[in-house]
Amino acid sequence: MSHGAGLAQPGPDALRRAASRFGTPCAVTSTGVLAAAAAELHAAFPDPWLRAFSVKANDVRAIVARLGDLGLDANVVSSGEWAVARAAGLPNARITLEGIGKTPADLRAAVRAAANGEPLRWVAVESPEELDALVGLARRAGLGSTRAGAGAVRPPLDVLLRLNPEVAPETLHGLATGRSTSKFGMTETELTAALATIPPGEGPVRVRGLHLHVGSQLGAVDAWRSAVHRGLALLALLRPERPDLDTFDVGGGFPVGDPGTVPAPARFAREAQALLDAIPEERRPTRLAVEPGRFLVAQATTLVASVLHVRERAEGGRVVVLDTGMTELIRPALYDAEHPLEALTSLGRPAGEVPPGAVYPARVDGPVCESTDTLGTYRLPPLERGDLVAIGWAGAYAASMAMGYNGRPTPPQVLLEPDGTLMAGRARTRFAVR
Ligand SMILES: Cc1ncc(COP(=O)(O)O)c(C=O)c1O
Repeated sequence: MSHGAGLAQPGPDALRRAASRFGTPCAVTSTGVLAAAAAELHAAFPDPWLRAFSVKANDVRAIVARLGDLGLDANVVSSGEWAVARAAGLPNARITLEGIGKTPADLRAAVRAAANGEPLRWVAVESPEELDALVGLARRAGLGSTRAGAGAVRPPLDVLLRLNPEVAPETLHGLATGRSTSKFGMTETELTAALATIPPGEGPVRVRGLHLHVGSQLGAVDAWRSAVHRGLALLALLRPERPDLDTFDVGGGFPVGDPGTVPAPARFAREAQALLDAIPEERRPTRLAVEPGRFLVAQATTLVASVLHVRERAEGGRVVVLDTGMTELIRPALYDAEHPLEALTSLGRPAGEVPPGAVYPARVDGPVCESTDTLGTYRLPPLERGDLVAIGWAGAYAASMAMGYNGRPTPPQVLLEPDGTLMAGRARTRFAVR
């Protein structure tokens, strides 16, 4: 765990208790680990950096609320995620909207909120056509308008323009968003042309700066450094003519891994600071933001599952089939992600009681009717139907990517407090068969 030793990880006893109280599969989130991750991020990017949690990584309301209490704002990509952030108690002033899939209805909702005097902190725009659409809606809603002699009655909507940083992110292909070939953001040429359509000063929208995101689970800082450098250089070039461009949001992407195997947020922060220091003060952005998802939530959650079948195959050896798989944790099937996995019980007894050496390899598969529904091969003690297994680091891109294929219910989300208390965060969906 990269958040340091001695944290309130979900230990085996708490996980067995959760399984007996909530059934399996169930997701157990250690609030102690959430707090440690939030503290590590805060230490790396202290105020005046703005720190928002990217809700796409985990959209469980109880978890967004807990992170909100820990000082994290929310970064959302749709009205659906926005609704989760609101239900979690965050005001619009602490919420930013970005994402390539924003619908006309999402843009209308952002404009409506601004017209009602409760604007989002900003909307990050992906393309020139999205900017046109937003400007049209904002103008029709009278944002930025002035009543004769009465000054501005409705402030303009603040927007950031998303830059495609055109770098080579050190991550899995499926997690890289900052490549020149990717669908995300605008090239420098597109972005400056889009900016030129929005004159500084009065208008329905006010461009406040740039947004970028390099990719997720970044294995090194080099692509991120190049991207931040590129964004800062562009801002520094534009600022003298456009003093409103005071904001730079560098996205998320901070990885999780065993200590020393991946760069920590503090390492990214040092790179950013060095780049900022190299720019004349009057050309630096004054409002800086990060919006990580994975780093804040990945390691806090453990998925607890039961064994359904144990098969001995002549070729391939032992196969263990669990009652959880790609429907609750799609990452292994989607991009061969690996998760730590261990037995909580063996032949009905706590796994710690198994004699040393009594472990052997098994392929662990999920319950879904797809052969890609597999978690990988692990060394495990003897298992039988009903034994419990824990799958670690299942807090990011798991619950938020869950699907109902095969008619499967979403599992309960349980919060584990440092004193061992278990609290229901979200119930299992129930299907009634009549
Ligand atoms: C624009 C943007 N910001 C933030 C994130 C969060 O990334 P991560 O969970 O790797 O921190 C993503 C993830 O896709 C993203 O696309």
